[in-house]
Amino acid sequence: MNYPYQLKTLEDYQKAYQQSVQDPEAFWASVAENFTWQKKWDKVLDWNFTEPKVEWFKGAQLNITENCLDRHLATRGHEPAIIWESNDPEEHHRVLSYNELHFKVQQFANVLLNNGVQKGDRVCIYMGMIPELSIATLACARIGAIHSVIFGGFSAQAIADRLDDAGAEFIVTCDGAFRGAKDIPLKSVIDDALVGNKTIKRVIVCTRTRTPVSMLKGRDVWWEDEIKQVETMGNPAVAPVAMDAEDILFILYTSGSTGKPKGVVHTTAGYMVWTNYTFVNVFQYQPGQVHFCTADIGWITGHSYIIYGPLSAGATTLMFEGVPTWPDAGRFWEIVEKYKVDILYTAPTAIRSLMSFGLGPIKGKDLSSLKVLGSVGEPINEEAWHWYNEQIGHKRCPIVDTWWQTETGGVMISNLAGITPAKPSYATLPLPGIQPCLVDENGQEIEGNGVNGNLCIKFPWPGIIRSTYNDHERCKQTYFSTYENLYFTGDGCLRDEEGLYRITGRVDDVLNVSGHRIGTAEVENAINMHAGVIESAVVGFPHDIKGQGIFAYVIIEDTHGDEKRSKQDILQTVARIIGPIAKPDQILFVPGLPKTRSGKIMRRILRKIAEGDTSNLGDTSTLLDPSLVDVIIGLNND
Ligand code: PRX
Repeated sequence: MNYPYQLKTLEDYQKAYQQSVQDPEAFWASVAENFTWQKKWDKVLDWNFTEPKVEWFKGAQLNITENCLDRHLATRGHEPAIIWESNDPEEHHRVLSYNELHFKVQQFANVLLNNGVQKGDRVCIYMGMIPELSIATLACARIGAIHSVIFGGFSAQAIADRLDDAGAEFIVTCDGAFRGAKDIPLKSVIDDALVGNKTIKRVIVCTRTRTPVSMLKGRDVWWEDEIKQVETMGNPAVAPVAMDAEDILFILYTSGSTGKPKGVVHTTAGYMVWTNYTFVNVFQYQPGQVHFCTADIGWITGHSYIIYGPLSAGATTLMFEGVPTWPDAGRFWEIVEKYKVDILYTAPTAIRSLMSFGLGPIKGKDLSSLKVLGSVGEPINEEAWHWYNEQIGHKRCPIVDTWWQTETGGVMISNLAGITPAKPSYATLPLPGIQPCLVDENGQEIEGNGVNGNLCIKFPWPGIIRSTYNDHERCKQTYFSTYENLYFTGDGCLRDEEGLYRITGRVDDVLNVSGHRIGTAEVENAINMHAGVIESAVVGFPHDIKGQGIFAYVIIEDTHGDEKRSKQDILQTVARIIGPIAKPDQILFVPGLPKTRSGKIMRRILRKIAEGDTSNLGDTSTLLDPSLVDVIIGLNND
């Protein structure tokens, strides 16, 4: 496969960028020409940011799996599509060629059809990182069902809320999942999530861990039994269903500044073009290379850069079931050596965690296959950037610092590997099609270089969020109402003297813990559900490995003299309501929270105290009880 739209020089980039701004429709039409369409579009783009309404390639019909699978068969049928590495280094790896993946996706599409799944139905996928997760995802897309993948670390309650919001009728899960030394009982979590649920008709369970599970008659079926049934039918082919360009491809839940996660909606054609274009250009993918994205498919990075971007480009994508530090901190490097990985795409939190083990785990590992390194999910600090560059890339591999979001579908601001300049801790330049701007609190655009502001985007790109599921108003309020006619990212940003962008972090109440997005309001809601908790306030604080840690100030009725135990109980509650990823790193019991006379918690002060920086707390005169601040500082110092 060749990519006529791959930018090969800095001049190519500059030219493409200019074209994409001057005539976006012509620009994206010329990229889209390189895909397989069942029917071509009538209009490339129709949009306004007030409703908001964004329609790319309207009138076109296509199926993303035809682009990810069928179109590669003639030339790359026998080439590896997915390489899978087990959690257990002793277990044999699996390789699925494009032919095999094509076959298996259709086989499972038949399973879905046999179980009554129809176009437009919502299918929740809650599985570990095994090839069947990718197969299930693609099988949904094959028949036009909307997938909603939920990360395996979310609790039953969090799943129940998402199932309810999506009106899901089908679930695909596993008996359990292996992650490092842990064995997570996924099916049992699903069973808890389904207590009282009335919409789920079928749960399809794939075997992985052999953890005992209870299968409910009439509701639960085994993946393997269903496949056998398809085999007895003679494995009929499943044609790629014609989807309208703007038909929903998937929903992915993410956290915001309110307590309720929102279902980010991505549609078919724009998302496909965007993930493919960004994959090919940011990583400078060359046919035959092995791409290793270490994210979980439960997050957007996995959707876009394990599944859709690479497969639509006919690439070889590596899926890893385990964690970077188990059985030891050399796991990533072992995998790089074993499969001669060309591109490694990971998160700063993983890099920092691996740094902390020193150079021992890298020693003796052959990393010479690596050509490009990537970073995503949070700002990468300079120390981690240099370590990645020197110890992993041996100063030969460009590092792409890719800034983007669940809502943007794919990379928005990043250097292009080896093509445009890199600068440590800078995402650098916008991709073609992306028109960033910085605005002040009043929504005034801040022009020029050497300035700071809130990052917004002026013009739609093909992968932009279309809606929040079942609640379009929320999409409008969250992203398109803060500043008129702009998409607001929620991030603060600096543009340096050379016009390069550096993301400085969230400016709303969203935390980024180990690259996972967590809303402070969500954590507060969970803490407040614990009996005895009167009120709580959650803020982030700098954390050496996680980037940000969670600090919770809690007013509790009575600890019965056992503070430690009360804290453990609260942690348990948070794990139950959201999942272990949202557990606070620190809990401080306080007699009250610093509130203004109008009742608003002054988080700025709580953040400062959590950071351990109480030298300059700013103006506290508007507080209802300013003396409380000293009390809290005193308790924190104890
Ligand atoms: O704050 C930014 C941060 O992660 C947020 C998006 O989180 P999520 O939707 O979970 O997607 C993560 C993977 C794309 C952003 O608003 N973020 C993401 N990438 C970077 C980043 N911050 C700085 N530099 C990055 N490269």
